[in-house]
Amino acid sequence: IPPLAPSEIDPDGFRSFALNLQPGKNGTWGINGDHLGPTVRAKRGERVRMAVTNRLPEPTTLHWHGMRLPARMDGGPHQSIEPGATWTPQWTVDQPAATTWFHPHPHGQTATHVYRGLAGLFLIDEPGGPALPSDYGADDIPLIVQDKILADGRLVTGPVDNGTFGLLGDTIMINGTIDPYVEVTTTQVRFRLLNASNTRVYRIGFADNRTFHVVGGDAGLLREPVPADRVKISPGERIEIVAAFDPGETVVLNSIGENRRDANDPEEDDFELLKVVAAASLKPSKPLPQALGGPAPVIPPPGARVRRFALSGSEINGRDMDMNRIDEVIPAGAVEIWEIDNTTYAHNFHIHEVAFTILDINGEPPPAYLAGPKDTVFLRKHADVRLAVRFGRHTDPATPYMYHCHLLRHEDKGMMGQFVIV
Ligand code: C2O
Ligand code: CU
Ligand code: CU
Repeated sequence: IPPLAPSEIDPDGFRSFALNLQPGKNGTWGINGDHLGPTVRAKRGERVRMAVTNRLPEPTTLHWHGMRLPARMDGGPHQSIEPGATWTPQWTVDQPAATTWFHPHPHGQTATHVYRGLAGLFLIDEPGGPALPSDYGADDIPLIVQDKILADGRLVTGPVDNGTFGLLGDTIMINGTIDPYVEVTTTQVRFRLLNASNTRVYRIGFADNRTFHVVGGDAGLLREPVPADRVKISPGERIEIVAAFDPGETVVLNSIGENRRDANDPEEDDFELLKVVAAASLKPSKPLPQALGGPAPVIPPPGARVRRFALSGSEINGRDMDMNRIDEVIPAGAVEIWEIDNTTYAHNFHIHEVAFTILDINGEPPPAYLAGPKDTVFLRKHADVRLAVRFGRHTDPATPYMYHCHLLRHEDKGMMGQFVIV
């Protein structure tokens, strides 16, 4: 996935990036190409301006998932871009190093637009970070995981609306490639995993079950590396891992389902994701740092406001998304406890604008690899989670941010609510 070069710094101090949403080949859509988009990169403190042009035959939007910015710049369903139009949000990047991403968010059409291939990465760098592998494409490799249905070399789009969960594809693509492999040349390699699938959940590890280290979650680095041999990642989530390789070996990154007999979780199948081929001789990497310097956990103050959200089939608190209803009004800078109670089959829960800490899942602390800053959390059937959520300070009483299930069929069916920060 190529990095996107910005323009030189504009006279007014912004680095500008041009993103063109356009039809591709064989049913795909892409950003500056036929399928998926380039990787955008900025440092904390930089000012960015995005020129997003819609060359598609229908309205869409482009949402900066994981980015903390004013609601008008968020790219949710209220920031529609008509065919032929260019939208130019701008903001100051002011958050810790993280792997964020962007994708369309048009009301009711997100599943189709993302599935056709509109998605890309936005990496945030923070000067003075830990000594992790960071040579993009060499020892710091993004892996966008998506499942597709293909027939006669074309993308089949009809089933995005199928069944309980929507589209579950049988062809896995990594970075838009079928049967992918990567050659690595260093003893340690960082993989930035993004689940950009419509609904499928993966349990990712290596075929030989070797231990690797998780170094980051959705919204930033962990405090310290966490050893693991499988990590679960649901749509919208990101996990950064560092894995070690021996010279000359070939190892397969795969996904192994956990709930085989449970049709209520969209993760029952096993898939090979990526072949990693290590060169005959490998350059030694720096040892993994003991401390990663990730953000401190969000700790709710005594008496923190608690808001409850019950997830049912396609509703939140018994209501469908209404573009004209504000569901929650949040004071700027508030730290709150959000309790999410899943009364049905699997869902997940994403909140725009924020980073949160998972306090507990079904009353238990989350696995250590989920302890870092998050913006999306998976809820198995009947699970409940409590989140400590820190809200930002970009106030706008008239423009809402979204919270929603990131299984895209559910989101499109109205499993979404709106909050404003005042
Ligand atoms: Cu990844 Cu509301 O979105
Ligand atoms: Cu988002
Ligand atoms: Cu859902």
